Amino acid sequence: MPGRLEGKVALISGGASGIGAAAAKRFVAEGARVVLGDVQTEKAERLAAELGASARSVALDVRDERQWADAAAAARSAFGSLTTVVNSAGISVPATIEDATLDHFRQTIAINLEGTFLGCKAAVAALKDGKGGAIVNVCSTLGVKAGAVFTAYSASKGGVRMLSKAVALHCAAQGYDIRVNTIFPGAIHTEMVEGYIAAGEAQGATRDQVIEGFAAAHALKRLGRPQEAADAILFYASDESSFCTGGELAVDGGLLIA
Ligand SMILES: NC(=O)c1ccc[n+]([C@@H]2O[C@H](COP(=O)([O-])OP(=O)(O)OC[C@H]3O[C@@H](n4cnc5c(N)ncnc54)[C@H](O)[C@@H]3O)[C@@H](O)[C@H]2O)c1
Repeated sequence: MPGRLEGKVALISGGASGIGAAAAKRFVAEGARVVLGDVQTEKAERLAAELGASARSVALDVRDERQWADAAAAARSAFGSLTTVVNSAGISVPATIEDATLDHFRQTIAINLEGTFLGCKAAVAALKDGKGGAIVNVCSTLGVKAGAVFTAYSASKGGVRMLSKAVALHCAAQGYDIRVNTIFPGAIHTEMVEGYIAAGEAQGATRDQVIEGFAAAHALKRLGRPQEAADAILFYASDESSFCTGGELAVDGGLLIA
C-alpha cells in the first residue's frame, strides 16, 4: 500500500529536533522525501543519515531569506521538486513583561514570527509554479491563550496564527492550489520543554514538580509526545486534508478547553 505522503518532498525547518524531527521521521515512513533545515547542522545531518536516501539536511537560519531560497533549491536539486514546507523552527525563553528585554523580544519575534513569514514566502514562491502543495505552520496554544511568563513567545505565536490565515487567503484567491494550515500544540516533551524544566529547577522546583505543573494545564493531565504533534502535521501535509486551508488543529490534550 502506498504511504500517505508518497510523492511529496518536504522542507522542514527546525527539522533537527523535537516536533520537526518527529515529523521528518513520520514523513519518511509515509513515503515522503525530506530536507531538514536547521541551525543545528550536525544534529540535522545525523538525523538525515539515520533516515537514509529519502532525507537530506541543509544549513538554514530561518531569519535569513537567502538561506530559505537556497534550502528550497537544495530540495529541488536533491529530489526533483518541492511540495511541502513545514515551519517548525522556534525558540521559547520564558520572561514576563517586566523581565523581558527588548533584545529578547526581538529575537523571539525574529525566529518564530519573521522566520515563519520568510518560510511562507519561500514556500509560496517555490510551490506556486509547481503542482501546488501544502504549508504547515507550527503555532502554539500560547498563540491563542497567553501566558504571563511567555510575553514574547505568546506575541510571536499570535502573529503566526494570523499570518497563516492571510497566506491561506492569498493563495486561494490567486488559485495557487497551496493549502496553509496550522497546528496548535500544548506542552510537548521536547528540548524546548526541557529548557522550561531547567529554568524551574534553577528556581528551586524539582523536575517532577515542573512537569506536573505543565501537565495540570491539560485536560488529559499529561505532556504530549513529539509524535502526537507530528501526526497532526502529517494530516495537513497529506492529501487527506485537501479541503482544509486556514485551518487550526489543536494537539493540546484539551488545554484550550480546560
Ligand atoms: N514543545 C512544546 O511544548 C511546544 C508547544 C507549542 C509549540 N511548539 C512549537 O513547536 C516548534 C518546535 O519546537 P520543539 O518543541 O520541537 O523544540 P526544539 O527545541 O526541540 O526544536 C526547535 C528546533 O528549531 C531550531 N531552531 C531554533 N532557531 C532556529 C533558527 N533561527 N533557524 C532554524 N532553526 C532554528 C532548533 O535548532 C531546534 O532544532 C516551535 O515552533 C515551538 O514554538 C512547541
